[in-house]
Order: sequence, then C-alpha cells, then structure tokens
Amino acid sequence: MAYDDIELTRDGAVAIIQMDRPKALNALNLNMMKELADALSKLEADDSVSCVILTGNEKAFAAGADIKDMAEDDYLGLYKNDRFEENHMATERFRKPIIAAVAGYALGGGCEVAMMCDFIIAADNAKFGQPEINLGVMPGMGGTQRMLRAVGKAKTMDLCLTGRMMDADEAERAGLVSRVVPLDKLMETAKEAAAKIASQSQPIAMMTKETVEAGFEMSLAQGIRYERRLFQSMFTTHDQKEGMAAFIEKRKPHFKNR
Ligand code: CAA
Repeated sequence: MAYDDIELTRDGAVAIIQMDRPKALNALNLNMMKELADALSKLEADDSVSCVILTGNEKAFAAGADIKDMAEDDYLGLYKNDRFEENHMATERFRKPIIAAVAGYALGGGCEVAMMCDFIIAADNAKFGQPEINLGVMPGMGGTQRMLRAVGKAKTMDLCLTGRMMDADEAERAGLVSRVVPLDKLMETAKEAAAKIASQSQPIAMMTKETVEAGFEMSLAQGIRYERRLFQSMFTTHDQKEGMAAFIEKRKPHFKNR
C-alpha cells in the first residue's frame, strides 16, 4: 500500500512513521488513521522490526482529529462506524515497543495518539492539550482516561475543562513525558532510545510492554502475579540463557529473539 498521509522509513530494526499532513498541522483524517493502522499491522508482522518511532514535524506532532472531516457528522453515523474505534486505536493495539517523538502541537487526538505510545520523548517546543471542549465536545480517543492515569485528576480536569495547553516542561513535571530534549536533538534521542530497545530480545521487550500495560487493568496483586508468571516463562527462552551467560562471561549478549 502506497501512503499519502504518512511516511514510513527504516533504520535497521527501527521503523519510523512520520505523520505527514503539514498544511493541516497533521490533523488526523480518516485516511491517515487507515494508513497508520495498515503500517502498524505490517510492522507488527515483520520480525525484523523491533521498535517503532511515531513522529510528526517540527511544528506539529498532530493538532487533533480532523475537525473539518467530522464537523458535519451525526450521532448515528459515528455510532454505526464506532468512531473512534478501529483504525484510530491501532497504536493502542500495537504489541511492539513504540515511542512518540513529539515536537510542536500534540492536541486532542494528537495528544491521545501520543499517549497510546509506550512513552513520549518531547522536544522543548512541544505543547500538549485536550482542547476539545473549545469545540463543544470532549476527548473521544481515550484522552480523559489516559491523561487521568498519566498525570492524575487535577491536571486532567484542568486541561480537559479549560482546554489550555501545557508546555514540555510542565508535561515532564506531570509525568506525561519521559524526557524533554532540545528540538534539534529530538529524532537523534528517539532513535538512540529505539535502537537500544531494538538491541534487546524482541519477545522479552514485548512481554515487558504487555506487563506494564496490564497494570492499567488489574489490581496490584493481580498485576504482580501476572508479572511473576511472565518472568518465570522467560526462562524457557534462549535469550534469557544468553543474557545471563553473557553477564557472567563479561561479554555482550547475542539475542536471537527466541
Ligand atoms: N483539524 C483540521 N484542521 C486543522 C486542525 C484540526 N484539528 N488543526 C489545525 N488545522 C488546520 C487549520 O484549519 C489551518 O488550515 P487552513 O490553512 O486551511 O486554514 C492549518 O491547519 C493551520 O492551522 P492554524 O492556521 O490554526 O495554525 P495556528 O498556528 O494559528 O494555530 C493551533 C495552531 C492552535 C494548533 C490551531 O490550529 C488549533 O487550535 N487547532 C485545533 C486544535 C484542536 O481543537 N484539536 C482537537 C480536535 S478534536 C479531537 O481531536 C477529538 C478527539 O478527541 C479525537
């Protein structure tokens, strides 16, 4: 499938998806979401890909769902198509590690897609927000829920009810982003992190991601049991034997993803 609204490139075991509708500040139209879902499903099936970076451009990660696309939608149409399920949630369903590299605006659906990624590295010009209330609606791709879990009630209410944006430093203090770097270092930093992740055992990284995510849905006791069971299961893998042997023999591990 040739893509019009995203660009997909490869750097070894790292795939980079760039949202590419600069004139609309990368507003998430239906086609871009379809292409993103298609790319992610192919990257998930491709054993040679171990980590993905999702990014935009220097001005915008994405300024939200495409308002012009949906302004005239009606309830029954949205309900029947279950907007925003399906392609819009593909990032959430993606099972390999995925990093959001955010510069500029990450608003509405843009902020929500960034929050669906495993962690966010932000450029110092990044701005995050859930401004849907200014449009007479509220977040519809998980913003109220993911923001709440990421930064707690006070800031979630503040952002969702006032519609204001928070800058990169505030987002880092609040725990929404893992690191803030100068704009010109954003992709370099994201690529370094992705390459490090891609150098680990792919199935072990996937299980680690799955276990952290499971914590959102479980009690502490259930989550700890889930973690323990998967930890135990890792001792069936070549990569556990190799990783521990390499440590003892003071050499680098050679993981085989099995
Ligand atoms: N949808 C459609 N088009 C958008 C857009 C969006 N979310 N955001 C920006 N654009 C378009 C603008 O219409 C404009 O297009 P034209 O040149 O054809 O007029 C172009 O991108 C550039 O935008 P601005 O001229 O507005 O740029 P600015 O620098 O003056 O302002 C901004 C930047 C503050 C981000 C402003 O564009 C803005 O407020 N955008 C909307 C943000 C928003 O409300 N997002 C939430 C969308 S709803 C949603 O996401 C629901 C959900 O939960 C899934």
